[in-house]
Parts: sequence; C-alpha cells; structure tokens
Amino acid sequence: MTAIERDVVIIGAGPSGLTAANELAKAGLTVAVLEARDRVGGRTWTDHFDGHMIEIGGQWVSPDQDALLDTLAELGLETYSRYREGENVYIDKHGEKRLFTGDIFPVKPETEAELIRLIDELDVIVAEIDAEKPWAHPRATEYDSITFKHWLEEATSDQEARDNISLYIGAAMITKPDHAFSFLQALLMAASAGSFTHLVDADFILDKRVVGGMQGVSIALAARLGDDVHLNQPVRTLRWSADGVVAITASGLEVHAKRAILAVPPVLFSRISYEPPLPRHQHQLHQHLSMGFVIKVHAVYETPFWREAGLSGTAFSPYELSHEAYDNTNHDDPFGTLVGFVSDRNADGVFELSAEERKERILESLSHYYGEQAKNPVFYYESDWGSEEWTRGAYAASFDMGGLSRYGADQRTPVGPISFSCSDFAGAGYQHVDGAIRVGRETAAAIAAELKG
Ligand code: FDA
Repeated sequence: MTAIERDVVIIGAGPSGLTAANELAKAGLTVAVLEARDRVGGRTWTDHFDGHMIEIGGQWVSPDQDALLDTLAELGLETYSRYREGENVYIDKHGEKRLFTGDIFPVKPETEAELIRLIDELDVIVAEIDAEKPWAHPRATEYDSITFKHWLEEATSDQEARDNISLYIGAAMITKPDHAFSFLQALLMAASAGSFTHLVDADFILDKRVVGGMQGVSIALAARLGDDVHLNQPVRTLRWSADGVVAITASGLEVHAKRAILAVPPVLFSRISYEPPLPRHQHQLHQHLSMGFVIKVHAVYETPFWREAGLSGTAFSPYELSHEAYDNTNHDDPFGTLVGFVSDRNADGVFELSAEERKERILESLSHYYGEQAKNPVFYYESDWGSEEWTRGAYAASFDMGGLSRYGADQRTPVGPISFSCSDFAGAGYQHVDGAIRVGRETAAAIAAELKG
C-alpha cells in the first residue's frame, strides 16, 4: 500500500479530469490523477491498426467549441477540415437514393416545407433554453414529461419529416430511440450546440478534426502533469468527511487530499464505494442517467473512391442501418476512410449477429450510399464502447423521462469535498469534448477559489 498526499485527487483521466488537474496545477495546487485504464483520454481514443489511424471515440470539432479550440491552440495541436466537396446522399423510406447539396434532405416538396417549418419552430423554442440550466425554463417540467417522439407526433403528421427530425437528435446525438428521452432533453442537446439549425448543418457540427487524433488533447494534458497521472488505478473506495478525502484504488494506492473531483461518466459513479454513502438525493439522481448506445464503424479503402463519383461522403437515412456516414479520410493519408454510425436499437440488433454477419450487414448499408465498392474495404473496425468496462456506452449519458427537470440543477452540486466533472453534465458542449473541458475548468476554478481563498 502506497499513500500520497495532494491538495486535490482527480478520478478519471479523460479530457474533463485532465483539464481540471492542469487548471489546479496552474493555480499552484498539488494534484494526483487516478485513471482506471492503461491509457488517458477516456472516450477519446486514437489508435493505429495495420498502419491505419482510427478515431475509436470522439473526433470532431465545431466552430462554436471555444473551450476545445483554445485548448488545441494552447497545446499546439492543429486541425483540418472534414472533406465535404460534392454531393451528399439521402435514401428515402422506399430505398430510393437521391443526391443533394445543402442541409435539407431531398424529400418531396410538402415534406421539405414541413422540415423547414419544424426546424424554425425548434429554433424558436431552443433560443428560449439556457443550455446551462434547461430546468429553469418556465415550461421545463411540461417539456420533460413528454417524449421527443410525442412532441414530433403532435407537431406534424408527415412521417418522413418526423423521421428526419428525430434522426438529428435521437440516432445522431443522444443515441437513444426518440421514445426514450424527453422533449426537454432534446432541447438541451440543440441548445448546447447553439441552435437546432446547427445540429442539422453537418458542415458546422462536424467541421474539423485534430491532426494526429483527438486523444492527443488528453495525451498532451497528461504530459504536463508527468508522474501525477497514475494509470491502471481504478478507484474502488472514496472515504470522505468535512476534512477531506481518501481515494483508494484496486491495487491499494491511497491518495489523501482536501478535495476530490469525480471525472468519470455518471453511470460509473456507483462503481465506487463511498464511506460514508453519498446522500439520498445523489443516490436517486445518479439512477436517472443512462448511456446512449452507438457503434462507430470505420471502413478503409485503397482510395477515397466516392470522391471520383462526385460524392462528398456525407450520407443520411433514417431508414438505413447506418443512419449517417461521412468521409473520414485522415490528414495526409492516401487511403480513403468512411465512417458510419449504427445507433440504439439497430446496434442492439446487429450485436445479436456473428461478427462476420454484422460486418456484412453494415457494409451492405454503406454500399446503398456509395455503391458496391463500399463492400470491400482493406480494413474494417467497429468501436464497441458498450463492452468497455470504464465507459459502458456511447456517446454519453442523458436523463430518463422527467429526470432533467427533477435533478439537473443538482447534478454538479458538490457533496462535501467531492465535485463532479464530465461532458455529460455540460451545458454548452454537452456530451462533447468541449463540454468536458468547460466543466473541468469551472470545477477547478471553484475548488481553487476555495482552497486558495
Ligand atoms: P471520459 O469518459 O472521456 O473520461 C473518463 C475517464 O474516467 C476514463 O478515462 C475512464 O477510464 C475513467 N474512469 C472511469 N471510472 C474510473 C474509476 N473508478 N477510477 C479511475 N478512473 C475511472 N465528442 C466530440 O466532441 N466530438 C465527437 O466527434 C465525438 N464523437 C464521439 C464518438 C464516440 C464513439 C464516443 C464514445 C464519444 C464521442 N464524443 C465526441 C464524446 C466525447 O468523447 C466525450 O464527451 C468526452 O470524452 C467526455 O470526456 P470526460 O472527461 O467527461 O469523460
């Protein structure tokens, strides 16, 4: 058993925990970061297979993500634009493929008018929502008591318009079926990106990537902390009192500190034993959050062959197994890479199949967008975050029905010396690396203000 003493112990070396640790160190406080895995980065994870760089987790940056953009600049990490020249593909419910440019899918004129009307209507309501406190909206309880599916059914009788609006928030963002989250949760998702229009605009929301990979942010932040980052140290017990905390890991490392920051996905809070137990309110609150579920699929080809056909690589269909796909070719890479996503119930379904059948079904879906060539990648990879013990889903956690208005205001309220920091509790940048960094900064600033007086 080794015991060390620090001002603050940070549990989790994802972007949120590492940002908080760096900010505290800058404020002159001593820190120790305890990380369960043998790597830093959490839900950002850049790896190489057969010479191909794969972004297993988070990767895109949008222009409003100031906190992430500042961090990238400070760390000297460069970005590059996602390839987007040419036409996008949409597949309708009859399996008919249509090419388009711009944001609105090429649907029949009545449906297009409905899509535009719904986007406008959502933009108006989203503008009333403060992403930092959606629960404070005068109609928060009401909005949190109806599912997003119900709101769409009331808003339009056009099924294809509903299916498309649902896709932007459900399959593409919260990664839960639209009957499994509230209208308020949907509004938070859009408000966190600035507007509903931003979510619809793939060129905005999926604007840039990080040269070398997004995990580079955490690797660079961890490098600044040196030996204060301890890998392979899952925290099992957190003893706490008004005087401070003791974090104890599976291998017996003990960190005695004045404060602790729990910078892990909220679904993992209950993996830790608290002595004494957390208060009743947190016991309840934490049970109302659950992870979404999506498979991120990479298919690498000798060349980005779709570009020769005049395609941007951007493809959508609420009726396809892979509901969205993009050109994910790496910076300065002669190989062409497509990335597709299989969300919630579709993901459950393909995980019932053998790995071979699953690959075949997913590539078949990509071939509907890009043609037969899509069926023959030189390399194929599925990100399986549902099987990751220290994450348990993707992309992030969201509240169940009624949970956001009932508990949201308290999700980051410290319990004695314990603070909570993760992208899942962000306003701006909610569920994104940007949000993780923002919450990490704010949590560190509050603790530094208290400890430094
Ligand atoms: P994160 O989960 O990253 O880190 C928490 C850390 O805590 C982990 O390292 C974990 O191992 C550790 N931990 C857990 N329990 C522990 C314990 N008991 N003891 C010690 N350590 C423990 N975002 C974005 O901005 N753009 C994008 O394109 C995407 N796309 C995307 C795709 C996929 C497939 C995923 C899974 C996620 C994204 N995201 C994203 C989301 C983004 O990756 C995510 O929001 C941030 O990584 C969250 O950072 P946090 O630090 O909050 O948690």
